[in-house]
Amino acid sequence: MTAIRIDGKAAAQGIRDRVAALVPAFQERIGRAPGLATVLVGEDPASAVYVRSKNRSTAESGMVSFAHNLPVTTSEDDLLQLVIDLNADSQVDGILVQLPLPSQIDATRVIETIDPGKDVDGFHPVNAGRLASGLPSLVPCTPLGCLYLLKQELGDLTGLDAVIVGRSNIVGKPMAQLLLGEHCTVTIAHSRTRDLPGVVRRADIVVAAVGRAEMVRGDWIKPGATVIDVGINRVPTAEGKARLVGDIAYDEVAGVAGAISPVPGGVGPMTIAMLMRNTLVAAHRRAGLPDPEGL
Ligand code: GUN
Repeated sequence: MTAIRIDGKAAAQGIRDRVAALVPAFQERIGRAPGLATVLVGEDPASAVYVRSKNRSTAESGMVSFAHNLPVTTSEDDLLQLVIDLNADSQVDGILVQLPLPSQIDATRVIETIDPGKDVDGFHPVNAGRLASGLPSLVPCTPLGCLYLLKQELGDLTGLDAVIVGRSNIVGKPMAQLLLGEHCTVTIAHSRTRDLPGVVRRADIVVAAVGRAEMVRGDWIKPGATVIDVGINRVPTAEGKARLVGDIAYDEVAGVAGAISPVPGGVGPMTIAMLMRNTLVAAHRRAGLPDPEGL
């Protein structure tokens, strides 16, 4: 079997187009476009690329981007004060503080200071708790993008066995909550799970988010399973360059799975599309409007 290649780039473009189509009605009604503030502390090249891409996508959607670039020496108090100011700024609907942060700053304190209604990353404990309780919340962008791809591929997910490899607050745990909400039977596995290949082999849906290059092998996969790869790992090539690979051994797994998301071009573009979606949703809720339809 050769698996269907799940085109995250095309799906993401579709979502971004729908967000862009909904912005003018919001602007007409409220008198301003939705606004997203991004905060980048330091000059980590990968983080700088991600944040630039988020700002560009915001502008392309017709929303307003407020980019704050702070030096790597920024104190925790100064960053907390910026977050407090952004919480109070009526033009700002979403606040995204790019992680990781320099070691002098406690990321948990920063996340807990963000107004949960503006927490477009969905990292605030209030949003995590609301998601776990089945209440309306802002949901982390990456798992939301994975769920969108899974529903696009499979339709109704009721009763399917889902195995998530990875237990992070950003991906693994919220992914489990989302799949429970779709009536899947959910297992969260991780690097210390006993017989990890055997556990993964039971799954109709595999979501890999462990951060280990090509860890999930072809013989771990039930024939026909749908496989979503959240990993982004840089590995050196024979020519001394760097190559991006996921947490899935793509070529092996593509020979067994029913469908698989590639790296790059799978989950990555969906994360930014869902950030645009969350910003639009946050703006609607803050303005007392119902959630936009079709997102
Ligand atoms: N760093 C890596 N991924 C993310 C993300 O989704 N949000 C934030 N804020 N930082 C990140």
